[in-house]
Amino acid sequence: MNKRFDKEYLRKRLKRQKYHMAWQFRGGWKLYWENLGPIAPVLKTVLKMTGILRRGFKNSITFEVVKQDVSIKNLPKSFKGFRILHLSDLHIDGMFDHGKRLVHCVKEVECELCVITGDFRFLTYGQTRETVLYTKRLVEAIRCKKILGILGNHDCVSMIPELESMGIEMLMNESIKITQGSEHITIVGVDDSHFYEADNLQKASEGMMSDSVKILLAHSQEVIPEAAEKSFDLYLCGHSHGGQLCLPGGIPIIKNTPKAFHKFVKGPWIYKNMQGYTSRGAGASCLTVRYNCPPEITVHRLV
Ligand SMILES: [Fe+2]
Repeated sequence: MNKRFDKEYLRKRLKRQKYHMAWQFRGGWKLYWENLGPIAPVLKTVLKMTGILRRGFKNSITFEVVKQDVSIKNLPKSFKGFRILHLSDLHIDGMFDHGKRLVHCVKEVECELCVITGDFRFLTYGQTRETVLYTKRLVEAIRCKKILGILGNHDCVSMIPELESMGIEMLMNESIKITQGSEHITIVGVDDSHFYEADNLQKASEGMMSDSVKILLAHSQEVIPEAAEKSFDLYLCGHSHGGQLCLPGGIPIIKNTPKAFHKFVKGPWIYKNMQGYTSRGAGASCLTVRYNCPPEITVHRLV
C-alpha cells in the first residue's frame, strides 16, 4: 500500500473520509449537495405531492446507450476503431433494482476497454458491503478485455482491494499503457478532486512518453485546465450527473460543479486543444430519481 500511496496522500484522504459529515460546509459556505442527507426525504415528499415521484424512479433505470466517435490526431493505426465503454457514477447500492437493469444493458455492449470514472457508492459515507456486492455482479457482465477505474467523491480508499479483486484495475494517481501489437496509448487516472482534493496529475503522469496518445480519467471537472496544460488528448469524467433533475430540454436545475466548469456538465466538449466527455452517469445520488436527464452508458470509438 505504502509503495503506491505516499504518506501525505493517505493522511489527507483518510482524515477527510473520517470527518466526512463534518465537512459539509468546508471552505466557508461552499456547499456539497451530495453530503446533505436531510435533502433526500424533503425532495421525496415534494415529488410525491406533485405526483411525479414514480416517474422519476422509472426514469432512473431507463438507460440510454450513447455512441460517439472521438477523432484523435496521431492515433496509432492499430487503435483505429478501438472502443471504450465508459461507465460513471454507478451509485449502484442506491438503484432500487440493485443494478439488475444496468447489468442487462451492459451485457449487450462489447468493447476493447471499460473505464469507470468513480462514484461506486450511493452515500458519501457508511458501509460499502452492498456497493461491492452489486458492483461485482456488474463487473461479471462487462464484455471488455480490461476494466480500469478511479474513485469519486462518494468512494473510500478501503474499497480498492475489493474492487481490484473483482477485476477492476484502479488508477490512484497512476497510469497504464494499453498495447495493441507494438503500439500503445496511455490511460491516466486521478483520485477525486471535487471533495477530497486527492488528485495528483503530476505524479500520475510521471514516466509517460510525450508522443503517446493520452486519455485522462478524472471523476469531476476540476482537473480540466491542468490536463489541457499537460496536452491530454481526451478527458473522461462524470460527477455532475448531467444535472439529474432537469427542466424539459435537459436544462439542469443544479450543476454541482464550480461555475467555471458549468459548460462541461454533460456530453462532449472542447477545452483549448483537449477534447472531453462528461457522462450523465448510470446512477443517481441524493434520491434515486431523474427527470429529463436519462442515465447513460457511453461507447467512445477512437478514430
Ligand atoms: Fe455521482
